[in-house]
Amino acid sequence: MKKRIGILTSGGDCPGLNATIRGAVKACYERFGEDNVQIVGISNGYYGLIHGLCREMQPSEFSGILTQGGTILGTKRQPFKMMTVIGDDNINKVDNMVQTYKKQKLDCLLTLGGNGTHKTSKLLADNGLHVIGLPKTIDNDLYGTDVTFGFHTAVDIATDALDRLHTTAASHSRIMVCEIMGNRAGWLTLYAGIAGGADIILLPEIPYDMDKVCDAVVKRAQKGKTFSILAVAEGVNDLKIAKLKKKEREKFHAENGNDTNRIAAQIEKNTGIEARVCVPGHMLRGGSPSAYDRMLATQFGVHAAELIADGRFGRTVASVDGKITSNKLDDIAGKKKLVDPKGQQVKTARDLGISFGD
Ligand code: F6P
Repeated sequence: MKKRIGILTSGGDCPGLNATIRGAVKACYERFGEDNVQIVGISNGYYGLIHGLCREMQPSEFSGILTQGGTILGTKRQPFKMMTVIGDDNINKVDNMVQTYKKQKLDCLLTLGGNGTHKTSKLLADNGLHVIGLPKTIDNDLYGTDVTFGFHTAVDIATDALDRLHTTAASHSRIMVCEIMGNRAGWLTLYAGIAGGADIILLPEIPYDMDKVCDAVVKRAQKGKTFSILAVAEGVNDLKIAKLKKKEREKFHAENGNDTNRIAAQIEKNTGIEARVCVPGHMLRGGSPSAYDRMLATQFGVHAAELIADGRFGRTVASVDGKITSNKLDDIAGKKKLVDPKGQQVKTARDLGISFGD
């Protein structure tokens, strides 16, 4: 009997999803023999699992996708908190997912995704399914792994944006404020900020004081620097807003948007130096994965095949201290890995004189 392996990609896309799929599938073909494996592709993440959007895929579909951005399976956000809630459509989502798995006679299911995806993966594992997670996200905020695929490609893109902003900022003697994705976690902004030579880095994990941000700009101007570059994570909060309860904070941002434009306007007002905003946004998630991410994604995929061979389910692949390994879903689902304000990378930045506005 052929081993039937389901694969889905869930949540926001990122470069490296296809490279991971390819790595896992090729390694399964290699281990079990191409004729002994049937890959079942599930469209649009858990939505497809809920609604039975499955199809048997051919080996040729996994060729030529190493360099391809996005996901050949399609993806969709399917919030975890709604998974156990029966909505107007009267669909019991968990039951449906279990039924699809059984109907497709799957031996296991590979779920490529970030935090929300892993919470649902654990839910499915708790319901008896053989699940193996693979850690994806440009935010790099998945607990239990040092790095997620997609992160380093996004760092490269954000760094390139900061490099380009440098030349135009210098020409015009301006302040350039670059908003970088990352609602709760500032890893992407921190890495790109350091790699892209930002003068000020603002992170969700370190609430900022607007006066201190302006002081940093003025200090640079007094040293004869005619421009400044700010790398600002989309989820930053000033000291006052950071003190609010989560719900109130969310309400504030729903009504007022991200801080980036306000920060730029305030700098211009307080310092008299012209400021502009740049939001690379979803460009950070687009295009081909970097060589680093192709390597990482391939290693992750190959490790997933090893877990399948060993019958080790209810786990997610991880990279810890440079080694590819796995964690129990029970140990990591629902936890986040945030930037440590006292950690090494923040210290590196501070030692360079980069301001965090605190
Ligand atoms: O989770 C990755 C991420 O890119 C976050 O950095 C960002 O806040 C969010 O997704 C944007 O989501 P969407 O693509 O649904 O707008």
